[in-house]
Amino acid sequence: MTRPDDGGYDRLYKEFDSPLSKKMRAAAYARDIGQHSWVSAEELEAVIPQLGLNAASLVLDLGCGPGGPLTFLAGETGCRGNGVDLSAPAIAAARERAIALGLQTQLNFQQGDLHERLPFSAGTFDAALSLDVILHVRDRETLFGEIARVLKPRGRFFFTDAGVLTGTVTAEERRLRASTAPLQFVAPGFNERALESAAFRVIACRDSTENVLAVAKGRLSARALCGDEFKAGEGETEFCKQELYLKTVAALSERRALSRISYLVETDRNEMTA
Ligand SMILES: C[S@@+](CC[C@H](N)C(=O)[O-])C[C@H]1O[C@@H](n2cnc3c(N)ncnc32)[C@H](O)[C@@H]1O
Repeated sequence: MTRPDDGGYDRLYKEFDSPLSKKMRAAAYARDIGQHSWVSAEELEAVIPQLGLNAASLVLDLGCGPGGPLTFLAGETGCRGNGVDLSAPAIAAARERAIALGLQTQLNFQQGDLHERLPFSAGTFDAALSLDVILHVRDRETLFGEIARVLKPRGRFFFTDAGVLTGTVTAEERRLRASTAPLQFVAPGFNERALESAAFRVIACRDSTENVLAVAKGRLSARALCGDEFKAGEGETEFCKQELYLKTVAALSERRALSRISYLVETDRNEMTA
């Protein structure tokens, strides 16, 4: 597999279970479920009935990171699942997490690149999710098509896009927002058109930008409280870079220049057309 730029995720995931990372998550999230995104436990709880998850479901998490959301859903519902992520340290951390929670027989985590064909047969999964990952994908039309392929007829897909351009963003803000990982912003309506061309029907859309603001502010306050510890761990240059990144994220969210939109969609394919 060609290894594209991991965008700095590997470094973070190698330290994911360190005391400092845990301190950061405790400040960023009301409930630390092992996520590394703008997602909250409450948002995932609401997704369970929307995706119809239960002990019989098989779920695919695209860009699963260290497995927090998928282990959370498996623990809550008894569902089985597969997680795919580009980062090898993320997959290692996800497997450890599944073992620690006694979920290793329900869940399988594997390294994979979402720019390539998904390594699953057509019609495998009951549901899919992808949390704050799509903005890293260069060709989302192709990925949506792949997700539709591996879902069963009428299979549901929940994803969040934290890069929907809903106001003015300066060139410098754009650079800082993308300083930790390569990403793409899209205009409102772009995802809807790409979903339609992949034969997905939009069931619900919700503005969830408040999650981004809350998490960015939480991470900033943890860094303000434990600045010396972060500087010792990251080095002065990385510390300043992260600060600027988080301040930019918070400012863009606060004035709604960049929005996070949560989408619940369903494949248009039914049993007859599958
Ligand atoms: C913001 S994190 C979200 C992680 C996880 N979904 C969560 O909520 O905790 C984005 C994730 O996307 C993954 N990613 C980025 N580009 C990818 C690609 N081309 N293929 C697979 N995963 C990718 C990163 O490694 C990272 O774990």
